[in-house]
Amino acid sequence: MMFFMPAKVIYEPDCVVSHSKDLSALGSHALIVTGHNSSQRNGSLDDVITALEMHGVKYTIFNETEENPSVETVMKARDIGLSCGADFVIGVGGGSALDASKAVAVMMKNPESSWELMYDSTASPQHLPLAAVPTTCGTGSEATGVSVLTRHDLKTKMSMVHKVFPSLALCDGKYLLTAPKQLLANTAVDALSHMIESYIHASASYLSRMCADNGMKLWKSCKDFLAGDMPLDINTANDLLTASTLGGMAIAQTGTSIPHGLSYTLTYEGGIPHGAAVGAFQRGYLRNADRSDREHVLSVTGFADTDELGQFIADISPVNASQELLEKAADNLICNPKKLASCPYNVNADVIRDIIGGVICSG
Ligand SMILES: [Fe+2]
Repeated sequence: MMFFMPAKVIYEPDCVVSHSKDLSALGSHALIVTGHNSSQRNGSLDDVITALEMHGVKYTIFNETEENPSVETVMKARDIGLSCGADFVIGVGGGSALDASKAVAVMMKNPESSWELMYDSTASPQHLPLAAVPTTCGTGSEATGVSVLTRHDLKTKMSMVHKVFPSLALCDGKYLLTAPKQLLANTAVDALSHMIESYIHASASYLSRMCADNGMKLWKSCKDFLAGDMPLDINTANDLLTASTLGGMAIAQTGTSIPHGLSYTLTYEGGIPHGAAVGAFQRGYLRNADRSDREHVLSVTGFADTDELGQFIADISPVNASQELLEKAADNLICNPKKLASCPYNVNADVIRDIIGGVICSG
């Protein structure tokens, strides 16, 4: 067994400002990589700026990170970071901003390299120091080395081959309080998917399952909020965020599996949000799993059977994917031997058909 998660993760109300010294110690000029406006709305950007100004650290803001950030966006942020002389990177936002910030940290440290460096498995590039401030509850990117980027040249999403962990993650559930309910639901389904796929994974170990298991228990405690109409309270926000980080810690050990492999086609070609796309395949993934694993996951998450789990996910995070798109996703998965090998049970054509057949479409 091995457990590698080298990020210092701090969970605390107002931790960005109260741990400003840790954040500012990473360098003298920060490139803040964030999205278009959510980090302004939820207060996280203001907190980061306050923390840096307390210690006289300069900063430049790159706020052009789109959903499912592209390699081109990473290179644009790299150029801005180099021209302003930034010597560390802070990702502020959801998974898109955090994933982009990891690739930016690599490319800034290697200013002579072209974008291909991100996908050059023969290289072992260094990266600038990196901090993460998550503001959604899905990717757990603050606790993983993974950076998933859009490759327009290949018409899909693809992880950078180099693992880059933030050295510092500052987690405060208050940033979730202003997020739209649908975004919270989609990202919470992504977090649940990470925990299920990590628990039922060829590389699962006692330690990775410890993270997935405890994350699923926390996730269960948030189901009433996810399915209901009540506003988000700070305790539920913190639980959702912690579950998401635990999911990140779990997949940092194992990686994801078949549902994530199938989802990329739905997101790239169908425009379906990542959380909804991965959630749609959980029912089928779970019903094909080993009986004791399946029953454990259902028990910990509080579902009677895989149909109830699938319907819950479909209700809170709906998808509408054509049969043609689902079959295309299956065809693309078959060309991905690494993803197929990540599944602990044999994935043949019949099993893939059954997993796809488990998708509950809305409308
Ligand atoms: Fe995911």
